[in-house]
Amino acid sequence: MKGSWNSTSIIPITFSFLFLFIFNCRDVFAVPTKYLCHPQQRDALLELKKEFEIQKPCSDDDLHPKTESWANNSDCCYWDGITCNAISGEVIEIDLSRSCLHGQFHSNTSLFRVQKLTTLDLSYNYFSGQIPSSIGNFSHLTTLDLSKNYFSGQIPSSIGNLSHLTLLELSGNGFVGEMPYFGRMKELTYLNVDSNELSGIFPLYLLNLKKLTDLSLSRNQFTGILPSNISSLSKLEFFEAWGNAFSGTLPSSLFTIPSLTSIDLRNNQLNGTLEFGNISSPSTLTVLDIGNNNFIGPIPKIISKLVNLQDLDLSHFNTQGCPVDFSIFTDLKSLQLLNLSHLNTTTTIDLNALLSSHLNSIYLMDLSGNHVSATNKISATDHHSQLISDLYLSGCSITEFPELLRTQHKLTNLDISNNRIKGQVPGWLWTLPKLKFVDLSSNTFIGFEKPEDLEVSSTTNPSMQYLVGSKNNFMGKIPSFICALRSLITLDLSDNNLNGSIPHCMGNLKSTLSFLNLRQNLLGGGLPKNIFKSLKSLDLGHNQLVGKLPRSLIRFSSLEVLNLENNRINDTFPLWLSSLKKLQVLVLRSNAFHGPIHHATFRTLRIMDLSHNHFNGTLPSNYFVKWSALSSLRENEDQSYQKYMGDYFRYYHDSVVLMSKGVEMELVRILKIYTALDFSGNKFEGEIPRSIGLLKELHILNLSSNAFTGHIPSSMGNLRELESLDLSQNMLSGEIPQELGNLSYLAYVNVSHNQLVGVVPGGTQFRRQNCSSFKDNPGLYGPSLDEVCVDIHEPSPQQYEPPEPEDEDEEVLNWIAAAIGFGPGIAFGLTMGYILVFYKPEWFMKPFGRKKHRSRNTATR
Ligand SMILES: *[C@@H]1O[C@H](CO)[C@@H](O)[C@H](O)[C@H]1NC(C)=O
Ligand SMILES: *[C@@H]1O[C@H](CO)[C@@H](O)[C@H](O)[C@H]1NC(C)=O
Ligand SMILES: *[C@@H]1O[C@H](CO)[C@@H](O)[C@H](O)[C@H]1NC(C)=O
Ligand SMILES: *[C@@H]1O[C@H](CO)[C@@H](O)[C@H](O)[C@H]1NC(C)=O
Ligand SMILES: *[C@@H]1O[C@H](CO)[C@@H](O)[C@H](O)[C@H]1NC(C)=O
Ligand SMILES: *[C@@H]1O[C@H](CO)[C@@H](O)[C@H](O)[C@H]1NC(C)=O
Ligand SMILES: *[C@@H]1O[C@H](CO)[C@@H](O)[C@H](O)[C@H]1NC(C)=O
Ligand SMILES: *[C@@H]1O[C@H](CO)[C@@H](O)[C@H](O)[C@H]1NC(C)=O
Ligand SMILES: *[C@@H]1O[C@H](CO)[C@@H](O)[C@H](O)[C@H]1NC(C)=O
Ligand SMILES: *[C@@H]1O[C@H](CO)[C@@H](O)[C@H](O)[C@H]1NC(C)=O
Ligand SMILES: *[C@@H]1O[C@H](CO)[C@@H](O)[C@H](O)[C@H]1NC(C)=O
Repeated sequence: MKGSWNSTSIIPITFSFLFLFIFNCRDVFAVPTKYLCHPQQRDALLELKKEFEIQKPCSDDDLHPKTESWANNSDCCYWDGITCNAISGEVIEIDLSRSCLHGQFHSNTSLFRVQKLTTLDLSYNYFSGQIPSSIGNFSHLTTLDLSKNYFSGQIPSSIGNLSHLTLLELSGNGFVGEMPYFGRMKELTYLNVDSNELSGIFPLYLLNLKKLTDLSLSRNQFTGILPSNISSLSKLEFFEAWGNAFSGTLPSSLFTIPSLTSIDLRNNQLNGTLEFGNISSPSTLTVLDIGNNNFIGPIPKIISKLVNLQDLDLSHFNTQGCPVDFSIFTDLKSLQLLNLSHLNTTTTIDLNALLSSHLNSIYLMDLSGNHVSATNKISATDHHSQLISDLYLSGCSITEFPELLRTQHKLTNLDISNNRIKGQVPGWLWTLPKLKFVDLSSNTFIGFEKPEDLEVSSTTNPSMQYLVGSKNNFMGKIPSFICALRSLITLDLSDNNLNGSIPHCMGNLKSTLSFLNLRQNLLGGGLPKNIFKSLKSLDLGHNQLVGKLPRSLIRFSSLEVLNLENNRINDTFPLWLSSLKKLQVLVLRSNAFHGPIHHATFRTLRIMDLSHNHFNGTLPSNYFVKWSALSSLRENEDQSYQKYMGDYFRYYHDSVVLMSKGVEMELVRILKIYTALDFSGNKFEGEIPRSIGLLKELHILNLSSNAFTGHIPSSMGNLRELESLDLSQNMLSGEIPQELGNLSYLAYVNVSHNQLVGVVPGGTQFRRQNCSSFKDNPGLYGPSLDEVCVDIHEPSPQQYEPPEPEDEDEEVLNWIAAAIGFGPGIAFGLTMGYILVFYKPEWFMKPFGRKKHRSRNTATR
């Protein structure tokens, strides 16, 4: 069952189920009494079924609600996911993997009434909570798979009592703390605790598990060194511990384990020089990924003895400016993936030489951050033995577009960003038949050469999906050949000098184009009409677009992000956009929108920025009543977001700049978990709607520079997630509601320039503001104010409260949070939904284990 979640293995499993099923059915007729289920076990299973809900939808290729078939009128030995002992009829295996089950195991769960289990597989469900320690009573278990759930808390130490286990799979949960003692599991061959929050040092007792072949500790918070006697795991084949904080040297004894085929220690803090010791020949090692550590010194030449290497990652190996002999890699004739990015060497890599070497299997090369020469002479004798598919040359000081790529007919991904390439992007690039992803950003290109066969535009590269050309000097009109790239999903030409209007021919792309970013150009004219019906994100901010919003936008039913900031669009409030069922981000800031904003219901909006327009009128007190997305997090949406993120965000990140805490903040990738309302710089009048207090997920609220009157509604005390509140420059009167003093994430408050009176609320958050946040109010007073305005009105000694001891830590955390673009609310208030967004998609990208698909050619997925 190793690696059974790998999509490539699902089909065989499904077949074997089918086979088993057919086989068993035949058996039923032949010997009907053979596996009769024990009634008490049947009842236990039926009760187990009742303990959990099935999260719908559950009908994917992968997912299937197994317990739905469990019914009291049939023999439980034939139920989906149940296997009985052929002789005794006792249930010995429960496989509820991928059954969409939701809920917690209580210590009284009927699962524990099925005592003789040898296999328990609960993987890929939505189980949460702690695992009851009675799990240690399943003393016959040989296989325990709890992976890819939401289990939390410590791994119960009783699991360490399961001495017959051969497979223990706990990856992809939220387990915390140290790993319990597993030293009694002498039969264990497979142990995976990947993707949890485990900490502590490398568990030394593991070295006594002599049968271990697969060990993964990846993506946790392990620290300390890797033990030098790790070679006592003499049967080890797969060792993965990437994404931890292991330090010290890489023990050379590791390379003496004869069975070892894969080492993945990327993204740790291993340091010192790299020693291989005596490499036993022939080495069986096929994967050596030790990139992104702190290794220094020369790259040992002996690496060329690892002749079976297929995947080598030495990225960020700091050669301290010394030369590197790149010919040592050309002996590794089985290499498929080679990551040599950021070696800090003075040697210039000759791309032509690498491509002409005898690396006959190589398809991915990452040379980013090194000096690369890609000489433009190609002679007939240049034989490129292997055609490469993924080439990463970002930040390689390249000055001319590498002509030698012209013959790379298998090129799929090309990242040539952050170089100094001038002039035109060659037209032949678009004729490479497999090309799918091109990143040209951060160069000094000025234009696109016409593709050679533009006339027969149907032959222009049909597979191009991601074209990123931001941060160049592209001038003139958007070239029309782009309209012939019929598979284009992402087009990003932001931060250039493109002018003219958005070409109508882009309507050709309407069935594919999902992300269009033309921000920061000089584009004029109106917004495109009747095109882009599959768009998810449209960013045309910082251009010179005029006219009204075309009403045809209403048919962009997939639209999730619409950013039109800093243009000259002159229209009334697009109330009709509220019919876009997926719209989450709407930014109309700094245009010439005017008039009232009426009673709109934006159920899905999470970010709305109407600031700096000419909107006016009042907002009725029930204005925000039906804004569901800002009122509660909806889990299902976050799940669909996973997919969305996995598919597209590898290449394109939505971002939006918001005013938060009085400064501009750029949000990247996190649009859907960040929430903001900015109505500032308009002419809204009347009272602030009381229903604002319903927007419980709101992080940023800015109503400044309007003409709001009346009191600040006390319902704002319900905005528990609020981090930044700006009500300055209005005509608000009355007192600041004391409830606001309890908002624990509120890091920034500005109520200056109003007509507020009374006592400023206490609480740490208010006492941390600048004095200027309160200025120009006639009647505010109180200890908080005295404290923050200490320089202005010297407080009397008894009024002054010294800062609380925890303040310092909180300051630091605030600062860290600000540095990563999150307020403390997010940093600590991570709910399941957030974790989902950040962390679950990775599972699909990097499965672990024997059957794993080693390819990182992810762009083709
Ligand atoms: C299943 O049916 C049997 C008899 O038909 C009954 O005794 C038993 O209580 C039932 N179990 C459940 C869980 O309903
Ligand atoms: C099991 O325990 C949970 C809470 O601990 C309780 O809600 C539930 O009723 C119990 N179930 C049974 C069958 O006793
Ligand atoms: C598990 O075993 C312990 C000790 O043998 C016992 O006290 C406990 O009741 C058992 N738990 C279950 C659910 O059977
Ligand atoms: C392991 O089993 C032993 C003997 O059954 C028992 O005494 C002990 O409490 C168990 N340990 C844990 C952590 O459950
Ligand atoms: C490995 O070395 C550690 C000390 O570094 C020692 O405590 C442990 O017993 C050794 N284990 C084996 C299996 O040799
Ligand atoms: C390497 O890591 C070890 C263990 O954490 C540490 O003691 C040592 O200072 C590090 N060496 C360098 C040069 O960073
Ligand atoms: C490596 O091999 C040489 C000779 O083959 C031997 O002298 C040396 O001790 C070995 N070193 C290690 C670390 O095993
Ligand atoms: C190469 O390694 C660097 C640093 O570890 C990493 O960021 C990059 O994604 C890797 N390249 C590829 C193509 O995987
Ligand atoms: C790269 O090497 C030089 C020595 O030539 C050294 O001064 C510098 O710190 C190194 N860079 C990094 C990032 O370690
Ligand atoms: C918007 O258009 C109207 C006419 O339709 C015009 O009167 C008004 O001045 C325009 N506003 C701005 C800010 O350009
Ligand atoms: C809003 O502004 C428009 C001009 O854009 C004006 O005609 C209208 O009277 C204003 N409405 C209110 C309620 O002030």
